[in-house]
Amino acid sequence: MNKKEEIEKIRKEILNLKKSPLYKYRTDNNYFSVIGKGSLDAKIVFVGEAPGEKEALSGIPFCGRSGKLLDEMLLSVKLSREKIYITNLVNDRPQDNRDPTKKEIKLYSKFLDRQLEIIQPKVIIMLGRLSMNYLFEKAGIKQKLESIGEMHGKIFKTRLSYGEVILLPLYHPAYALYNPNNKKVLFDDFKKVKKFIGDVGREK
Ligand code: URA
Repeated sequence: MNKKEEIEKIRKEILNLKKSPLYKYRTDNNYFSVIGKGSLDAKIVFVGEAPGEKEALSGIPFCGRSGKLLDEMLLSVKLSREKIYITNLVNDRPQDNRDPTKKEIKLYSKFLDRQLEIIQPKVIIMLGRLSMNYLFEKAGIKQKLESIGEMHGKIFKTRLSYGEVILLPLYHPAYALYNPNNKKVLFDDFKKVKKFIGDVGREK
């Protein structure tokens, strides 16, 4: 199977995930599951938390207000969505934008693991506390009990099943939506992403 076929297999499994507590909510509302989007050869993968309403209505990750801010940040380092891959820890929308539960994270994170194994990125940028906690734990990073307030913008060199990887936790873009100071922190942290762009190709 090539990468596209493997991702398609994951997509079908998520669509049929009847044992998920979010399955009925999705089908009752005609929501889509939100699978990752972007280049399957990306060197940089962004991992958010779970789809919001706009994402569930369109099936596209980060296409609502948080996504607009993410686009601004990508533009600030001249990186386009086509060069990266964006996905989430959980692929179906939790009710009323609540955080996904531990049980939901356990159920869906195996799809994230498989996407990472297919793409094998050199850099993973975690947007928010939940994807940070999940990937730190997976990589055996001890500081995993620290808060995102302590860890944001710090670079961690580690290993995942497929090889060496750099993990960079950032605040979730939603954190910056209502507060210009938070936005500044996020944009400052995002400058770190520049370091990794050399070999992934900048937009002209
Ligand atoms: N927030 C997320 O974490 N993911 C999305 O896709 C959209 C908003």
